[in-house]
Amino acid sequence: MVNHLAIIMDGNGRWAEKRGLGRSEGHRAGAKQISTVVDAARKAGIKYLTVYAFSTENWKRPIAEVTALMELIREFSESKLEDMMKNNIRLRTIGRTDDLPLPARKSLLKSIEATAGNTGFTLNIALSYGGRAELVDAVNKLLKERKSSAAVTEEEFRQYLYAPDIPDPDLMIRTGGEMRISNFLLWELSYAELYVTDTLWPDFDEAALNKALESFAGRDRRFGGLNKKK
Ligand code: IPE
Ligand code: IPE
Ligand code: MG
Repeated sequence: MVNHLAIIMDGNGRWAEKRGLGRSEGHRAGAKQISTVVDAARKAGIKYLTVYAFSTENWKRPIAEVTALMELIREFSESKLEDMMKNNIRLRTIGRTDDLPLPARKSLLKSIEATAGNTGFTLNIALSYGGRAELVDAVNKLLKERKSSAAVTEEEFRQYLYAPDIPDPDLMIRTGGEMRISNFLLWELSYAELYVTDTLWPDFDEAALNKALESFAGRDRRFGGLNKKK
């Protein structure tokens, strides 16, 4: 069973280019797809979904594209609030979200606060997120807050990450076909099963998700131990 699914939502730009549209149109179609996949994930019994929406490296993109993405983030958190309340979904974010423009930050905060008590499903959006930034932020927080100089354990270190209460992902899906992590969840993915599909994110639907979940069901997760299936 997949309890926590993580997704690198890649391929919006290629999806748009194939249709002769601007990249921002691809991002708009991609933002829509998040709701489709949230519904499909809930149906499949998944409890946590972390989606990579904007990386620390994505700030390098042209200003017009970054602006369009920030506006989509604002729109998404605002327009989905009612749905999230109705469906008992809690919204969270991870990343250096202080770097986002104020309108996006405000509407995210409003939805995060309003949905904080929801218990059915957690949608966690990685925004201005980098795996290395998360580890460095954790170390700096630890240096600031920790009184003791005793050796740090993995369990204690984890408490300084962005979302220590969210269990590690069981499965990580990347759409758009690239075989790389692109600075996503470096700590948390250590034993996640990986699934890469050529399907571009705006085309990734319930059937595509179920195919990935079937692949996961056939995996033998050994966590460094010995085969349990035989
Ligand atoms: C993923 O789609 C969304 C973000 C990185 C914000 P891309 O914009 O990377 O799409 P491709 O990879 O160029 O097709
Ligand atoms: C990864 O996609 C980041 C997100 C999906 C938000 P990129 O398109 O930025 O990754 P690279 O540049 O192909 O590694
Ligand atoms: Mg890409």
